[in-house]
Amino acid sequence: MSTPDWSAALERAGLDRTQQTVWVAEGLIHYLPPPALRWWLTDAVSLSARPWLVLTTIRPEVAAAADGRLRRLLRFIEEIPAVYFTAEDLRAAARLAGWSAVEVWQLEDQVREFAPAAAPRPRSVSQDVALFQFAPVVGAAAPAA
Ligand SMILES: C[S@@+](CC[C@H](N)C(=O)[O-])C[C@H]1O[C@@H](n2cnc3c(N)ncnc32)[C@H](O)[C@@H]1O
Repeated sequence: MSTPDWSAALERAGLDRTQQTVWVAEGLIHYLPPPALRWWLTDAVSLSARPWLVLTTIRPEVAAAADGRLRRLLRFIEEIPAVYFTAEDLRAAARLAGWSAVEVWQLEDQVREFAPAAAPRPRSVSQDVALFQFAPVVGAAAPAA
């Protein structure tokens, strides 16, 4: 299986490789082949300057906790998640691709940090949000000539 070549399509759509770019994938990565996260982390670095990547993921225990109604809905719309990620999976992928930072918010963290007014509302299962940042490590030694 090879990396999809999406550079031409993105450039036709206006991607400027010289600009800092935020890549956003809400509710997508768990439908793609398992190597898709690695492809994305690699391609985002070659296609944009100092990229950030924001995506949502499903932890294995969140998938296991989905109730029958949600499972039936996902079957009905034919969007059955296939790949699950722990926060450590995300950090390991980031390290391999040379990204400098990853933050992961589970649902409780999302409510506390971004929507505290929603705290009293009942909650079910939901996706984690991850923010990947790529930046050259300040003060890193230059490679030997
Ligand atoms: C939960 S929705 C996310 C919607 C998205 N945040 C938006 O605002 O359009 C999941 C999306 O993943 C897409 N999808 C599912 N499997 C896919 C695949 N193998 N390749 C590309 N897209 C896929 C579906 O078509 C759907 O648009």
